[in-house]
Order: sequence, then structure tokens, then C-alpha cells
Amino acid sequence: MIDGFLKEIANMFDFTRKDACEMMRSFQIEMENGLKGRKSSLKMLPSFVRRPKGNEKGDFLAIDLGGTNMRILAIRLLGQGKIETIGMRRFSLGKEIISKTEDVFFDFIADCVSAFLNEHKLDVFLEVGFTFSFPVIQTSILSGVLVSWTKGFAVKGVEGHDVVTLLDKAFKRKGLENLKLVALANDTVGTLVTQSYINPLCDMGVILGTGTNAAYPERLESITKFKGMWYSEEMIINIEWGGFDKIKMTKYDEQLDKDSENPGGQRMEKMVSGRYLGEIARRIMKEAFEKGLLGSKELKDIFLKPYSLTTEQLSLIASDKNIFNDSGIEGISDKDIRLLKEIGQIVSKRAARIASAAIAAVLTHMDKELKLEHVIAIDGSLFEKYKGFKENMDTMMKEIFPNQADKIHLSLTHDGSGIGAAIIAASLSSH
Ligand code: GLC
Repeated sequence: MIDGFLKEIANMFDFTRKDACEMMRSFQIEMENGLKGRKSSLKMLPSFVRRPKGNEKGDFLAIDLGGTNMRILAIRLLGQGKIETIGMRRFSLGKEIISKTEDVFFDFIADCVSAFLNEHKLDVFLEVGFTFSFPVIQTSILSGVLVSWTKGFAVKGVEGHDVVTLLDKAFKRKGLENLKLVALANDTVGTLVTQSYINPLCDMGVILGTGTNAAYPERLESITKFKGMWYSEEMIINIEWGGFDKIKMTKYDEQLDKDSENPGGQRMEKMVSGRYLGEIARRIMKEAFEKGLLGSKELKDIFLKPYSLTTEQLSLIASDKNIFNDSGIEGISDKDIRLLKEIGQIVSKRAARIASAAIAAVLTHMDKELKLEHVIAIDGSLFEKYKGFKENMDTMMKEIFPNQADKIHLSLTHDGSGIGAAIIAASLSSH
């Protein structure tokens, strides 16, 4: 029985080379449409940033906001691709904070910044780079209107508003007069910029964490929807690939989407990113339970409640840690744990393969025949910590490019999202 069920799930979640090639084609069409300002599930947002030279210098503060943890960093850029982190602290953004009103939310951020500055005795004048990892329409490097929240954030009064103004107002309310906001960036842009600062071969930034997305440098002449002023021949584009919707879905994906806070939105993100993988697996486990395939009754409660199984737990199970014993839940049979592990594998394997297909689509958009070497900067817990995720990505890449996969280097870029904002801030004073 269980074997039959697992086989059925594995078939449903199979993402073949053929699926990848089809996806790459429609992904590239959506990219083109997005760049031209036509209807597209890829927003292709101009970032007002180009790749750095590597000689940018100075001390900066970076605020990195976009997942369950906000990070504040004091960064020293030494030039020649050298970066020193003077201080870094994580602040957890609990459910109560991410569903408040705009003023409470931004006051909370300003309070965290204030605590960080006190802790590190930083009372000098500091320029601040703000990484805000949500879809934002920018009209300059220092302004951006939030289109819509993603990843479960639901702070009221921010959609449709300029997030730089909102943060700046909170700084003023909290008397943070020695801070000056100078740059706003997406985490994908920050990650790309950080790796490029170190390695000029880098031409893509990818996030595989709570959410998923990517950025790459585009030739200005191809961004035909862009009517503003820009001083360089290239501009980094924030693809917002989480929104890609030309992709084959299972009934579990459909249901998850329907029940989510943003039905119809972020379809690819819901199949790939950390916020959702645990939930997909939970839905499958719930069905297994209803079909009488699970022995342990204790599991029922866990699998009944939406989002009660996190991707982090799934990842622990993948590494053979017994999360149930650790949380004091006893009596779960090995057989049930094995089923959960297998389902986790199926779901995370598809996620990794879709991520590789998306990377391949962007690479061949930039370099049709893959003539050059490409370094892809990747940050996020899925890529960094989920057992087998990177290997699954590598396998898909080899299937897509049997003879050229060795030209593609997936490179973990830690804290790139925040550090990148500091580099962008520095580059503003150097061009
Ligand atoms: C979501 C956001 C996007 C961000 C990504 C990774 O997809 O919309 O802006 O880059 O998560 O954090």
C-alpha cells in the first residue's frame, strides 16, 4: 500500500529533463515580455544597480529584511574585493510583528537598529543600505513602492507605499539622526553584487531560502520598458521569479495555493521555497494518514494543522534527526518516519530541479550557447542546509547541459543580501 502511494506521489512530482526544457522556453518568453513591459508573470524589475568594480571602500550599516530573521550588519569594505564584518545581529520577526500596522512594524525595525548601534557603540555618521526582499517598483536607487507582500508578510499600510520613506520616518521618530539611508535593494541584487565584488565572473544572484528569486545584469538596450536615466550600459534586473506560473502543478500545489494568503501569486515560490516545502509534505502526509497508511496516531494532530510541519523539520528528518523525540512526542514508528523522509525527498528534489531549470533559463538568456564560465551566487538555508538539495540541483544541471555543466559554478554567498546593500551604498559615492 505505502509503496503504491509513494510511487504515485513520486510520479506526480517528477520533474523531467523534458519538463525543464519546456519550462526554460516559457521562462525566457516571460522574461522578454517582462522586459518589454508586456503582461508577464515575471516582473523583471529594474534595480538601479550595476555590478561593482571591487574597489569600493568605507564603513556602512546594512539592514537586511526579508525573511523570518532580520539581520543588521556593520560592514567595512576595504577594496580589492575584501570585506570585513564589524558586527552582525539577527532579530527574529515573529508572526505578531509581520501582521501589524506600518508604524509599529517600522518602529520595531528602528528599535532593533538602535539596539545594534548601542551594542557596538556606533555613534558616528553612517550611510545605510536597506535590503528589502519583496517585489518593489523602484524609480531610483533610493525609492521603491511595495507591489505586494510575499512569504506570509502582511503588515498593513505598506503595499503601494515607498518603503524608504516609511523607514526614514521611523528613524526620525526614534531620533536616529546619525543614519542616512542611501540605497534600497532586493536580496538577490545584494547577493549578486557581493559575489561580483569578490569575483568578476559572477553574473547571477539567487536566493533559495524562505522565498526564492534571482537577479542578473541585463543590457540597458534590452530593458525597453525602462524610460528613466541611467549612466551605465547594464542594469541589474530583479526577476521576481517566485511569481513564474507557467509550470506543471500537482493537486497539492493547487490546494496549497488556494488556501494561501495570496492565491494565484508566487506559484513557483510555492513549489520551491522554504516557506512551503514543509507544507506540501504535510498535505501529502495528511492524505497518507486519511488513507490509513500511517501507524502512529500521534502524527495526526501534527499533520492536521496547516504549516505545522516546517521545512527546517523536513530538512532535519532528511539528515536522520528524530524531530519527534526531540519535541517530546514519542511512539512514532520508524516506518512512519521513513515515509515522511521519502516524501520530503520527493518534494525537495522537485524544488531543486525547478531551481536549476530556472537558473539555466536565465543563463541561456544571457549567453545562448553557454560559451562563458558563470558563477552563480546563492544564499539561503535551503541551498546551504537541506541535505541533498545542492546535489539534486547539480544533477538537473548536468541533465540540461550534458557537455557544459562544468562551466556553471553554484557558489554559496553567505550574508550576501545584506553585505551587497553596503557595497551598493559605497558604489554610489565612487561613480
Ligand atoms: C520573495 C520576494 C523576493 C525575494 C525572495 C527571496 O520571492 O518577493 O523579492 O527576493 O522572496 O527572499
